[in-house]
Amino acid sequence: MSLVIRPAQPADLGLVAALVRELAEYEKLAHEVEATEGDLETALFGANPRVFCDIAEWRGEPAGFALWFYNFSTFLGRHGLYLEDLFVRPAFRGEGIGKALLAHLARRCVEEGLGRLEWWVLDWNEPAIGFYKRQGARMMDEWTVCRVTGDALTKLAEAAP
Ligand SMILES: CC(C)(COP(=O)(O)OP(=O)(O)OC[C@H]1O[C@@H](n2cnc3c(N)ncnc32)[C@H](O)[C@@H]1OP(=O)(O)O)[C@@H](O)C(=O)NCCC(=O)NCCS
Repeated sequence: MSLVIRPAQPADLGLVAALVRELAEYEKLAHEVEATEGDLETALFGANPRVFCDIAEWRGEPAGFALWFYNFSTFLGRHGLYLEDLFVRPAFRGEGIGKALLAHLARRCVEEGLGRLEWWVLDWNEPAIGFYKRQGARMMDEWTVCRVTGDALTKLAEAAP
């Protein structure tokens, strides 16, 4: 078979780190990548991992990956699956690999009774938005992402009673 999707193993750490960088470069966010292979090793393969990674291989070559974790909806009263990273290397695009990675996660949702499969996408990333719509995704335009980091996070933490 041309395509195999398999869980990442510790031996894949260099590959996963490289794929994270390649995605960040595509998203023009390479300057924001701080994660080391050690960080990824702890997160993916330490005790009780809370984040998971699937690797796509095309004819034996590493072609792409999906990195994900479980979230939870109080409205549904059920866990869901949050897709943190989805990336297919340029040479392997258009072969159905991105769709297969997403479908693999959708199948996990169905099998595990998860309520939602969701993720963010940058608003300028029209090719990915087109691809996601084609897979049946609805754009949640009425929601805005919030984030607290760095000094703002420290300041907020200092306000804790
Ligand atoms: C987005 C991405 C994951 C898609 O993976 P891919 O392997 O190239 O896509 P596939 O070959 O699986 O495409 C599957 C289907 O989507 C369709 N599709 C792909 N790109 C599309 C687009 N821009 N608009 C509409 N449909 C699109 C294909 O025609 C195909 O349709 P089909 O099911 O009818 O055959 C890949 O292009 C990628 O890694 N891009 C750069 C990184 C990125 O943007 N990641 C997402 C960050 S949120």
